[in-house]
Parts: sequence; structure tokens; C-alpha cells
Amino acid sequence: MRAAFYEKLGPASDVLQVGALPDPVPAAGEVRVKIMASGVNPSDVKMRLGTGSATNEFPRIIPHSDGAGIIEAVGEGVPPARIGERVWIWNARWKRAFGTAAEFVTLPAHQAVPLPDNTDFKAGACLGIPALTAWQAVETDGGIEAGQWVLVAGGAGAVGHYAVQMAKAKGARVITTVSGAEKAAHARRAGADLVIDRRAEDVVAAVRSATGGAGVARVIEVDFAGNIAWLPQVVADYGLIVIYGSSQREAPVSFGASILGNIGYRFFIVYNQPVALRARAIAALNAQLQAGKLQHTIAATYTLDQIAAAHETVEAGRQIGNVVVTLP
Ligand SMILES: NC(=O)c1ccc[n+]([C@@H]2O[C@H](COP(=O)([O-])OP(=O)(O)OC[C@H]3O[C@@H](n4cnc5c(N)ncnc54)[C@H](OP(=O)(O)O)[C@@H]3O)[C@@H](O)[C@H]2O)c1
Repeated sequence: MRAAFYEKLGPASDVLQVGALPDPVPAAGEVRVKIMASGVNPSDVKMRLGTGSATNEFPRIIPHSDGAGIIEAVGEGVPPARIGERVWIWNARWKRAFGTAAEFVTLPAHQAVPLPDNTDFKAGACLGIPALTAWQAVETDGGIEAGQWVLVAGGAGAVGHYAVQMAKAKGARVITTVSGAEKAAHARRAGADLVIDRRAEDVVAAVRSATGGAGVARVIEVDFAGNIAWLPQVVADYGLIVIYGSSQREAPVSFGASILGNIGYRFFIVYNQPVALRARAIAALNAQLQAGKLQHTIAATYTLDQIAAAHETVEAGRQIGNVVVTLP
């Protein structure tokens, strides 16, 4: 098969190669998926650079956890009826060397989830990390209740855009932050009630004013280190800060402001969702897909030969939406 791979960590154009590797054979309990679209996430870039918390050491790595395609072979114990099924993939590159940036991937059958007919392969390649992360951020710790105020940091980001939509679907009143007019329009299309340009406006004042001084019940935070200095000022009493990203690995937290505000902090990483939560997340996400109400945003599409450019686009961080690599 043709695959993109790297054998040492480093800059995309230095280490990513495209070439022929042996076709993988599905072991017992596995399926082989013909990949149609492979999603590129910031964590794929961090793993390739060696800066991610989830970096594994393997002599050769095919990148990318997310993808979508068609099951075209099954291992022992997997119903042959699954051959021909359209699927989306999660965790292909979590504690495993070979991800989705290849013509084929083999992986445990439950990591290939039926992809509803109304959802194309490119959108299917955005689900494993961005959409499941957004779902968990909205549902963790009892979930958002209708009528609550929620602040989604970075509502034009890949995760943030899904989070705005999912919070709205729960009946929340959603405030989000963006940088610039184009991202503002994108966040509004997701249903945000109030969009704050964080580079041009006072976020704390705008959130406090919108919520009548009470603050939000929940923050869904993409940059914990970047925003923690002021977050306690916009969280309601007994509110929750759900953190899925941070620009720095260390950040000081105000004990005084946190304890007086009875603030909860929930960090999580979607790669190791507990089994029961993963099952709930997948069922809920597939129901949302079938209902056809979820907007997906493909920022850019690259071929396998252009994988270094795909990584550089994600690394630059100026795209609006997901970057995917498509395979013939
Ligand atoms: N915990 C997990 O399981 C998990 C899962 C998925 C992603 N992540 C992490 O989450 C981050 C975002 O991933 P993504 O795929 O959504 O990336 P993305 O599509 O590049 O979006 C990132 C967004 O964050 C916004 N942003 C950056 N700094 C900000 C700040 N200080 N305050 C508010 N917004 C800010 C950006 O908007 P502006 O234009 O306003 O800067 C941008 O829209 C990455 O670090 C990724 O590794 C973690």
C-alpha cells in the first residue's frame, strides 16, 4: 500500500515520507479499512514533533488517529457482513504505530464505527478527535442544562465549532470567543448567541455583562494557560471549567479565586475516554449525524503526497476547520 510515515521526530518536510509499505492483514477481532479521508489534528503534529504528551516510540509511524473509509477485509471473529461498510475511525494512532495516513489501516473492529449515509468521508475524518472532544466537553460532569450560560473559548476552532453546536443543541446560551471577523461569522453559523473578538474586546466585561454579572455555568477551554488568569472572573458560583487544551504545559491557578468561587476544574484527553463513556459518546454522535444537524468544516484538502503541507497548515493554526488528506 502507499502510506505516509516517519522514522524520526522533527519538522514535517524533513521527516514525513511517502512510499510503499506492506498491506496490513487484519488479526482476529480486527477490520481492514480502505481509507478515503484521513484527518490531521494538532496532536498528530505534536506527536511528530515530539512535543505531545501522547508520543509513543515506534521505529516507524504512520500518522493520524482520525479517518474514514470502507471496511474491505475482516479478521477472525468479525462478521463478514461488515465488509463494504462505510466507517469512521477513532484512536488509530493512540498507543499504536500505524494510523490512517495510508491506503489501509487495520484496527480493532469497534474502532471502526458505522458512518451514516448522509455524512461524507471527509466529515467522517473529523469525528474521532474534534467531535468526540466537543461532545465530552459538553456532557462531562452531568452535562450542560438547558438555559445555562456557557463560554466556549475559540468557537471557530475544530473542536470549538462542534462544541458551540452541541451546547446549543442542549439548550444552552452560548458565548464564544474568536479572533477576527471571518471566525466570528463562522462561530455565528454554529449558533453562538454572543461572539466576542478576544483581540479587540474585553472578554471578561462582555461575559459579565451578557450574564447579568453572574458568569457562566461552564467554560469549555482550548487554552488553559492563556486564559486561566481571568477565567475565575467569568465563572458563576459552583461553575465548571472544562479544559481540553493549553498553549503551555504549566499554568498558575488562583487558589483564592477558585475556592471562593467554588470552581470545578475538569481536564480530560479524548484518547483515553473510559469504555462506557466512549460508547455513549459514539452513540450520541452518530444520532446527531443521522439527524443531519451537525455542521462540519473542511478547511483544506491535501493528497497523500502533500502530507507535509497538510501538517504545516495545522501547525500554522490559521485554518478555519479541519485539514484532511484524501486518498484515491
Ligand atoms: N484534550 C483532548 O482530548 C483534545 C482533543 C482535541 C484537541 N485538543 C487540543 O485542543 C487544541 C485545539 O484543537 P483544534 O483541533 O480545535 O485546533 P484549531 O482548529 O486550530 O482551533 C484552535 C482554536 O483555538 C483558538 N485559540 C487559540 N488560543 C486561544 C486563546 N488563548 N483563547 C481563546 N481561543 C484561543 C483559536 O482561535 P483564535 O483565532 O481566537 O486564536 C482557534 O480557533 C489543540 O491544542 C489540541 O491539541 C485536545
